[in-house]
Amino acid sequence: MELADVREGLARILVPRAERIYDAPVFYNPVMALNRDISVLAVKLLESKTVLDALSATGIRGIRYALETSAEEVWLNDINEEAFRLILKNVQLNLGVGKKPLDEKRVLFEGRKRVVVNHDDANRLMAEKFRYFDFLDLDPFGSPVEFLDTALRSVRRRGVLAVTATDTGVLCGAYRNACLRKYLAKPIRGELCHEAGLRILIGTVVRYAAKYDLGIEVLLAYYRDHYFRVFLRLRSGAKKADRSLSKLGHLWQDENGRFEYSEGFLPERPKAYGPLWLGPLKDGDFVEGLLKEAEDHTLAHGKTLPFLELLKEELDVPFHYDTHALARRNGLQARKLTDMIEILKEKGYKATRTHFSPKAIKTDAPFEEVLEALKKLQ
Ligand SMILES: C[S@@+](CC[C@H](N)C(=O)[O-])C[C@H]1O[C@@H](n2cnc3c(N)ncnc32)[C@H](O)[C@@H]1O
Repeated sequence: MELADVREGLARILVPRAERIYDAPVFYNPVMALNRDISVLAVKLLESKTVLDALSATGIRGIRYALETSAEEVWLNDINEEAFRLILKNVQLNLGVGKKPLDEKRVLFEGRKRVVVNHDDANRLMAEKFRYFDFLDLDPFGSPVEFLDTALRSVRRRGVLAVTATDTGVLCGAYRNACLRKYLAKPIRGELCHEAGLRILIGTVVRYAAKYDLGIEVLLAYYRDHYFRVFLRLRSGAKKADRSLSKLGHLWQDENGRFEYSEGFLPERPKAYGPLWLGPLKDGDFVEGLLKEAEDHTLAHGKTLPFLELLKEELDVPFHYDTHALARRNGLQARKLTDMIEILKEKGYKATRTHFSPKAIKTDAPFEEVLEALKKLQ
């Protein structure tokens, strides 16, 4: 494998040279530096001591956790033999002192930090390490569902589960049957598909967690660059699980773009999308905390900070209005977002931009008022 030397955050990483990222024998995507930046800030803020990067590839994520946070013990794991060997090389390069093979599938590095490099199926490792990790990161190819059961059992009670999903085609309704099969949920197509997809993902984790009497709190959930990312704090107890389940519900949308949603495990009427999470997508203090951590942190991606600022400002209500879709659906011309936001604010409503689309707004105004604002600008 021909290797290139890259730097990301405080890490120096050897990655395979390849024409296209999916052709490489071991996966590395520089675009995901923003995902890793936010995750590093999260581990710093949470002061997690034991951390698992369950699907590690080159090791970049786990190595950044070890170098850039106060984590004391970081595990990096991959099922792929070439990935395992490359992780060993990269850990050696960044943290390498006191290398001790524990068996043929596990190597311990003991220096400033304890770092364990493991070569196994993530499900087997997570099953072995029952309630062990303060912070567990799932960053798979595609859907994370095959790892959720063991991950929920491997995170400590009150620990944090971080999940990436790159199967946006499934969660956003391009492959409806796949969404039914994997997430037991009906996805929506059109302008709400990304927010609904994110909420289906969270709703799925809620259902998986509930059977272990675990509830969840959303610390942060977002969509970007064709992936979803969620940071979920686990809360122990049947009541916590019930409370999380009570935040599941369904979505309806008519041809004019009017949407409605209601809580309830089963849909109260036909043509519903979901079940999906209707609770918050962020904890304000957590996002403020990430921004504070970012002040004295060298971030790898130029867009991490403005993206976090956008998430902080965003109104946290379910769903949004895509002004272009709204205009098209109602035979009107699209108008400037800032003007729409201004009109709604003048009327006493809350309205902000949203990270889901540069053409969309989030507001607590009813559909008629949003449409009225657009008509006023024609
Ligand atoms: C998207 S990559 C991970 C990228 C990495 N986390 C990063 O930030 O660069 C997914 C990795 O999961 C590994 N993988 C797939 N199935 C696995 C399994 N069942 N157990 C462990 N690793 C697995 C693949 O070999 C691949 O390296």
